[in-house]
Amino acid sequence: MNSWPHKHILTLANFSKEDFKIVIDLANRFKSVNNAHIKNLPSLRGFLITSLFFEPSTRTKNSFELAAKRLSADLLSFNPSSSSLSKGETCLDTARTYCSMGSNILIIRHSSNHTPFEIAKNLDYGGFKISVLNAGDGFNSHPSQGLLDLYTLTKFFSPIKLDPNILFNKTILIIGDILHSRVARSNLWSLTAFGANIVLCGPETLVPEEFSNFLTSNLPHEVTDPIKNRGKIIISRSLEQSIKNADAVITLRLQKERMKTNLLTSIQSYSDDYCLTKQKLDLCSKEIPILHPGPLNRDVEISSQIVDSYTNCLINDQVSNGVLVRMALLYLLSKVNLEFKVI
Ligand code: CP
Repeated sequence: MNSWPHKHILTLANFSKEDFKIVIDLANRFKSVNNAHIKNLPSLRGFLITSLFFEPSTRTKNSFELAAKRLSADLLSFNPSSSSLSKGETCLDTARTYCSMGSNILIIRHSSNHTPFEIAKNLDYGGFKISVLNAGDGFNSHPSQGLLDLYTLTKFFSPIKLDPNILFNKTILIIGDILHSRVARSNLWSLTAFGANIVLCGPETLVPEEFSNFLTSNLPHEVTDPIKNRGKIIISRSLEQSIKNADAVITLRLQKERMKTNLLTSIQSYSDDYCLTKQKLDLCSKEIPILHPGPLNRDVEISSQIVDSYTNCLINDQVSNGVLVRMALLYLLSKVNLEFKVI
């Protein structure tokens, strides 16, 4: 395996094709461990991993924690409601406390954009030898989700060779609340890297036209895009039209908790236009895969009929693959040479 160039994993904007492939191949190697009777590997024995979820999570938190256990790491799991946050301690001081206990990796989720970036920067300045893994910050970035979606689609289209280049020129339709979605933003980086074209579909309040320039206008500070020829981003207002040419669909949750103003006339009218139903799916002539990062608002953005009985609904695969991808990320960060440049 080539050396891993990232001390922290905060965004996918700085991932090269090689970086994506390393994660996919390693996740796939961990698949056989997950299928074995004894599922634990000794790789991270003696390693301390801390999960700092300042915002609720079911999938990401538990799959990172399961991934750490599968690799035999020691694990500290933080609960914000019973922590000293209630006494006024800051997120940064909380992170520094876990560093001082000897943590090697902090997995951080926070409702504010860039909090994991700020914590990583501060810990680097403080001389802490620790990696930060962003488990979702506000609506900015959710790298492990972008990677597990890339893995899931690659596995669907290229089950034997597992070659993400299979996505070249495929049309991937992402439907719904793009504005508040860190998942969509991470998927834009991961899927366009291999030449997939992305159609972002939703009402103007949730899918502003500016998203067509996302890849050039949202590169983080001091990052040069390592990918030469990315796929395109196209905006669509019509699900009925855009689904006809789709090769895969990712539906997204309406993130009401992040909506500062009322962006929809009603949930019913949104659902009439943008809920993925079997009737709308039948407008596509192919049996395409359907993904959703979860949690679901059933019958708001995706019908229960599709979730429960459509053969190519890959939501459960996404959850299973999430454990493998997160094992790969923890393993790679455990091997980081601590003389690294930041990010
Ligand atoms: N997809 C995702 O991030 O789900 P959780 O909020 O349950 O972690």
